[in-house]
Amino acid sequence: MPAGPTRSELERAQDLIATAKRLVCLTGAGISAESGIATFRDAQSGLWTRFSPERLASAAGFRRDPAAVWQWYRSRYEAVCRAQPNRGHQSLTCLQQAIPACQVITQNVDDLHERAGTTAVWHLHGDIARCHCLTCRRPWTGVGNVWDHDRPPACACGGLYRPSVVWFGETLNMELWRQSVQAARQCDVMLVVGTSGLVTPAADLPCQAQAGGAAVVNVNPEATEIARPVDLWLAGSASEILPQLLPPYG
Ligand code: OAD
Repeated sequence: MPAGPTRSELERAQDLIATAKRLVCLTGAGISAESGIATFRDAQSGLWTRFSPERLASAAGFRRDPAAVWQWYRSRYEAVCRAQPNRGHQSLTCLQQAIPACQVITQNVDDLHERAGTTAVWHLHGDIARCHCLTCRRPWTGVGNVWDHDRPPACACGGLYRPSVVWFGETLNMELWRQSVQAARQCDVMLVVGTSGLVTPAADLPCQAQAGGAAVVNVNPEATEIARPVDLWLAGSASEILPQLLPPYG
């Protein structure tokens, strides 16, 4: 475990953020880890170290065993419902209130940013609370919460409802992606929090920011792939580091 950031690293990050006109915060599973939501690639507890992404996070896996995939996402949805936002999420809400041009872009499918009060969050990888039909893509509009079902309910077209998350082999919402690239190119600081930087295209956003002239600040207890385009790595957890980055605006 690396030592935490030095005082001068923290001060540099504070200065960058306090003078930012446009800030983009790119978050990953690490920001929700301290709320009890498992990450994907952490050595002991990561979901993809314990479960098969091919089986559980692909359309082919769902076709093969819809009930197993449904149960797995249902238990993840229930874990999200039980979780509470932590000081990391709350700090990003404070940043958004202090810097009007502050866009949060997340790879997370939970709603902890929203429940912490952050608005207009862009969810690149979808939303675990929603479902749509695998065949005709119609969103679930049935009575009650779709996750009350023990098995994936059937759509009027005969297809099955599946979670509205982006699976391996699927593309992101193109309009959301276009807006994300534009925000990255136009920001003057990108704050990257809790992502391994291994999943493209989301992992390309820090490079886009840097190509547009932004400083990239990375908050993560571990050195990551995303460390390559990074200007400043603040070694520590989201809930420890982010509260220290809040500008003294009031
Ligand atoms: P990963 O599990 O790949 O990475 C989580 C990162 O969070 C790691 O770099 C950890 O070091 C870091 N981390 C752990 N605890 C932290 C804490 N308390 N504070 C800050 N950082 C912490 O998760 P993602 O990068 O989000 O895709 O994964 C990207 C995508 O891969 C996910 O959105 C998901 C997955 O397959 C889809 O579901 C489409």
